[in-house]
Amino acid sequence: QPLEAESGEVSLNGYEHYMLKEIYEQPDALRNAMRGRLNDQDATAVFGGLNLTPQQLRSVERIILTGCGTSWHSALVGEYMIEELARIPVCVEYASELRYRNPPIENNTLVFGITQSGETADTLAALNETKRKGHRTLAICNVVGSSIAQASDGGVYLHAGPEIGVASTKAFTSQCCVLAMLALYFGRTRHTSFETGERIIEDLRRLPAMIEQALTCDAEVRKVAEKYQSASNVLYLGRRYNFPTALEGALKLKEISYIHAEGYPAAEMKHGPIALVDADTPSVFIMPRGTTYDKVLSNMEEVKARGGPVIAIASSEDTEIRKIADDVITIPEAPEFLQPIITVVPLQLLSYHIAVLRGCDVDKPRNLAKSVTVE
Ligand code: AGP
Repeated sequence: QPLEAESGEVSLNGYEHYMLKEIYEQPDALRNAMRGRLNDQDATAVFGGLNLTPQQLRSVERIILTGCGTSWHSALVGEYMIEELARIPVCVEYASELRYRNPPIENNTLVFGITQSGETADTLAALNETKRKGHRTLAICNVVGSSIAQASDGGVYLHAGPEIGVASTKAFTSQCCVLAMLALYFGRTRHTSFETGERIIEDLRRLPAMIEQALTCDAEVRKVAEKYQSASNVLYLGRRYNFPTALEGALKLKEISYIHAEGYPAAEMKHGPIALVDADTPSVFIMPRGTTYDKVLSNMEEVKARGGPVIAIASSEDTEIRKIADDVITIPEAPEFLQPIITVVPLQLLSYHIAVLRGCDVDKPRNLAKSVTVE
């Protein structure tokens, strides 16, 4: 279904808040992000606006992904995707650091600025700074014609439709989806075989339906929200592709419910944060089945042994987890590189319901602006 026009009054369409509407728009946002960009004949992705010749594409030796907040989290997801599928080294930089850090940047480096609004001052400055030094700058951006879209040498639009809620939701999943397609695109110029490319396309096409299925956890999530709404601290833990999701879940909760939350790679717990665990500090484990499942499970047992309540975001097929976790929210099985796009959905809903239960202004949280156009 087409989303609303990019300008003008955006209706709530019967939803109580823009954030909730935007969470539910994610299946369509992803369909729009993928429309016309998957090429079955060559088992690759196509992008009209990257403005790269095949030679330039082939000669890329490093990619820098930069952005702020949620867009920085999608950059972390992109790092894992591009390095795994395309075998190109990727650096992720906070735009606010990159603009002043002056790192040595090799020739044949592509710099992607990731931004929903296209107006974030630090991201714009970081791209301008790298462009001044002669590097090719590209934007992964939602707002058409925005400052960053105009300032870069090319890029990819998300086509997610307007995002009004200050807490970014559909822009994050659309950014991850575009980064997965870019990983396929770069990969197919290098190590990714035709057959692997076909499989990735098939997996990408299943994404909107997987999000639709993930959204059916809403009632389950609301119950969990009721139980933990009074917490003062919450830990979010995940590994590999689900480590950035842990950061994103924690950011969502902080932003709109004003509860202190920390995201960590699950295995880092024992290096400090486990000291925070007590009966009043819930830990959310993002642990769909995959490479590190058993490791995360033992991290969960360590938290349980110290009296911390544990909530698992787990695969629907995982029947064992209910014996250990206090609460389980299930999501559909997905290939590992696409898991963050699915696992973030219950985390978005959890922060939403907790914020509503606490009487917070979900769409306009205190002290925050939708786009940060100042330093
Ligand atoms: C996300 O929920 C935040 N509101 C914030 O971190 C945001 O992602 C950040 O300010 C970057 O914005 P941009 O994507 O528009 O550049």
